[in-house]
Amino acid sequence: MTPAALPADKAFDSTLALLREGYRFIPERCARLGSDAFRARIMGRKVICMTGPRGIRLLYGAGGLTRQGALPPTVLRLLQDKGSVQQMEGAAHRHRKALFMTLLMQEGAAEQLASDFARTWAQDLLAQGETCVLDSASDTLAGVVCAWAGFGPQISQDPRLRKTLYEMSARTGSVGPGVIAALMRRRGVERRLAAALADVPSGSPARRIAAFREDGAPLPPEVAVVEILNLLRPVVAVGRWIAYAARILALEPDWRRALATADTASAAQFCEEVRRVSPFFPMTGAITTKPLCHEGLDLPRGQWVLADLWGTLHDKNAFPLPEQFHPGRQLSWRNPGACFVPHGGGDTATTHRCPGEKVTVALMVSAMQVLCRAVTWDVPVQDLGVALDRIPAAPASGVRLIQLRARGDGA
Ligand code: HEM
Repeated sequence: MTPAALPADKAFDSTLALLREGYRFIPERCARLGSDAFRARIMGRKVICMTGPRGIRLLYGAGGLTRQGALPPTVLRLLQDKGSVQQMEGAAHRHRKALFMTLLMQEGAAEQLASDFARTWAQDLLAQGETCVLDSASDTLAGVVCAWAGFGPQISQDPRLRKTLYEMSARTGSVGPGVIAALMRRRGVERRLAAALADVPSGSPARRIAAFREDGAPLPPEVAVVEILNLLRPVVAVGRWIAYAARILALEPDWRRALATADTASAAQFCEEVRRVSPFFPMTGAITTKPLCHEGLDLPRGQWVLADLWGTLHDKNAFPLPEQFHPGRQLSWRNPGACFVPHGGGDTATTHRCPGEKVTVALMVSAMQVLCRAVTWDVPVQDLGVALDRIPAAPASGVRLIQLRARGDGA
């Protein structure tokens, strides 16, 4: 089947609909058109939007695609940026990806980050007395990951730099002056990190990235900084998953009681289901670099394709009663299947699937241990709703907690 045979969105250009509908844009159209794929025009460009496993297998499959040119430039610059692993393909991509796999998946890395975070966040929460989980978890994560990467207190304890790391993910769906300011602050952080690199200890993750060799030479300094930010920025973004998990604890106190005594494996099941039901990355994009025949779909060279992550995470066949929060589904980043794709799909070492899932789940589990075991708290009246027209989405209040006290302090 050629793209012309796919159903088409009836709008001449669907950019405004995408901005208005956010996460619902692809899955609701697919449901309405009775197809897992449809044609549309976004920002004046022809695109094929796909939901479900067929689209995921295309974007995280055998190749013949590039991520270059598949994201609006402001989103790219705030997230991955030019020269990053996400912009590479083939053997060069696998070589660079192996660096991330080693840094993030090796024994002890996730555990170290998670225990540093749990200790520091518990102290920060008790010092604050009341908090917004999205803000405080993101801020603590920024300090912890900068120190873990090898940077000293002039970087890890700088509140403005920590906030900029948060904004790089938080501003991706915005347009206008706020994005330009965030981009300028990102350039400032890049300069600070480049200058501070001389002092990071040998063996630290930042030093290992700076010393990583490609084509017989170390990475150019500007690329090394982009890849160091590819460790720092997404760890800070885990604060959003933590806020979603805290939202469930706030809405359903039974989970708070259950997690107080749960083992790590059960806490991980809870966190994995949070990653399935909560909106984060709505979709990923790529462009074909040659004609491709993919599961009955003939794609020409240069075809822009968007794969729907959010809708795929609610696929009825893969997840019965997909709207229900049900940690008993036994989901895991270790064995994700074709539809559990909060961080992309496919084989992590050879495709663009995120290398940070192990770290993410370890950080979420340690956050749940802090909130359910180390501290007690009350939930003030607030708006815990999640609007799907904002990318990236978040609980409206960021999840506010009050009366934070150490467990056992007469609480
Ligand atoms: C905060 C939660 C996170 C979310 C929602 C997330 C989501 C994603 C997604 C959807 C992709 C695939 C992009 C594509 O297909 O083009 C990706 C790739 C990537 N992620 Fe994450 N991620 C998260 C956390 C992390 C963490 C903690 C790290 C590292 C510390 C990380 C590092 C990366 C890198 C380096 C890539 C590029 C991989 C490649 O192109 O091969 N991410 N992430």
